[in-house]
Amino acid sequence: MSAPRTTTQVGIVGAGPAGLMLSHLLALRGIDSVVVDHRSRDEIERTIRAGILEADSVRSLTETGVSDRVLAEGDEHHGIQLAFGGESHRVDFQELVGASVWLYPQTEVFVDLANARDAAGGDVRFGVRDTSVHDLTATPVIRYTDSDGTSREVHCRYLVGADGSHSLCRHRIPAEHLRQYRTEYPFAWFGILCEAPKSAPELIYSHSERGFALISQRTETLQRMYFQCDPDEDVDDWSDDRIWSELQARVRPHGHDLVEGPVVDKSVLRFRSNVVEPMRYGNLLLAGDAAHTVPPTGAKGLNLALADVRILAEVLERALATNDDDVLDDYSRRALDRVWRAQHFSYWMTSMLHRQPGADDFAVRRQVAELRSVVRSRAGSTFLAEGYTGWPSP
Ligand code: DHB
Repeated sequence: MSAPRTTTQVGIVGAGPAGLMLSHLLALRGIDSVVVDHRSRDEIERTIRAGILEADSVRSLTETGVSDRVLAEGDEHHGIQLAFGGESHRVDFQELVGASVWLYPQTEVFVDLANARDAAGGDVRFGVRDTSVHDLTATPVIRYTDSDGTSREVHCRYLVGADGSHSLCRHRIPAEHLRQYRTEYPFAWFGILCEAPKSAPELIYSHSERGFALISQRTETLQRMYFQCDPDEDVDDWSDDRIWSELQARVRPHGHDLVEGPVVDKSVLRFRSNVVEPMRYGNLLLAGDAAHTVPPTGAKGLNLALADVRILAEVLERALATNDDDVLDDYSRRALDRVWRAQHFSYWMTSMLHRQPGADDFAVRRQVAELRSVVRSRAGSTFLAEGYTGWPSP
């Protein structure tokens, strides 16, 4: 007997923000989709991710009616602090480019999108097992086993892999049909959540001879902070005292003092940069981390994923309306333009602020000079502000 099947216009693997936003944007265009994810809804909600939304990301969420919660509960930030060389300098995004960013964790974006799909009767299937994808150059099929053990199939006109950096969809593309670009970074971030009031009204990006530190926030009583560490660092080697003395040592020389509190979560975040080209193979399209990952400095990951699916929804609508698969090439071309700009921006922020293992004093002095050039030049600060707040979509 064949597996129970559903037929839909767009099958989507991955119910993170990229997959759910795409499903939402397609529904607004009258296009139906089915989303599957091996994780439970609860598991996705409990994953700690970055917290900065570009102006365009906020606009997409509010203008498409996902939620106004980002405006009510998020925090609008008009700038950041760049701390280095014994001083701290404010980069004023509003003044430089008339834009701001919003501190609103990715988890909340996921919650808003999952609720919006629920309310609209969207077909999102969490917690499926043994997912596989087939017939990518013809009529794609998603096969999986649902929670009661039944094998199921979703047949779709187009398939989207929004299934994260380990993407099973990407792994099904024959090697000769895609090019992978990668770069490795010899360090990682030690990330903490702590119960304390905010240490500063805005984010602090701190350069230090001991390595980079980032002071971010979550709520009035919960804060997020990071410091550069070795990729093989063991979180169990770090007591609260040791964490606080390392963080303080990286910001105090520049005049900042952190309000300390109990550390309630700690983890090591590895860095990678990865881009695959093209973001299409036959009737499979890749979106978000499945197609590209950036190092976390500057928080571009989620914003890039949302930019991808804005283009993808439009291109899929055109392909379905004209019955012309060639239209799909437009997606990759347009999305990759922003992807590479974000790759460069994240790399630039990372290399300017982190200490390379084995760096000599010359390298450190050169970084400080670069940071000075950025804050003392309107052109330099504007370049940073444009990239940080996100280049407006054409
Ligand atoms: C956060 C993460 C980032 O990578 C960043 O650049 C800014 C903020 C965060 O998690 O709050």
